[in-house]
Amino acid sequence: MSHHDERTFVMVKPDGVQRGLIGEIVSRFEDRGLKLVAGKFMRIDEELAHEHYGEHEGKPFFDGLVEFITSGPVFAMVWEGADATRQVRKMMGETDPAESAPGTIRGDYGLDLGQNVIHGSDHEDEGANEREIDLFFDEEELVDYERSDAEWVY
Ligand code: TYD
Ligand code: MG
Repeated sequence: MSHHDERTFVMVKPDGVQRGLIGEIVSRFEDRGLKLVAGKFMRIDEELAHEHYGEHEGKPFFDGLVEFITSGPVFAMVWEGADATRQVRKMMGETDPAESAPGTIRGDYGLDLGQNVIHGSDHEDEGANEREIDLFFDEEELVDYERSDAEWVY
């Protein structure tokens, strides 16, 4: 990992999995030149949902959010690259898919604020990326390797 690289946590939410969008979403990050460091197809239980979305506890949408995120399997990932957290957020679009530009993931695949296909660590929340990676992955699940086209695309 070179000095300007960082890692970020990304997850295809239950709606994205059910709609068959895992491959499309992985493709976008691969094409951009980000490097896949970890991936896990899994279910989020109630406890993990509360930890992951702890900042939203008490808000009116919280119960629905927990119900949604635990409703079916998700595909959790770690992506690495220059400015990865902010770049992934840009590729995702806005929180509300209806406000997201076409060409972004939420802008291309969603219309509903709750079911917005993808999660990415918040670049405005210092350390959120590392916290979320730690929450979902053990150290040994993060795979260390060189992506062979790195000198061209990074
Ligand atoms: P938030 O962290 O604000 O958005 P983001 O996913 O872009 O970081 O909110 C977490 C999720 O909660 C969001 O992806 C969708 C859901 N949500 C609602 O259902 N209603 C709302 O009003 C907000 C702000 C979020
Ligand atoms: Mg957020």
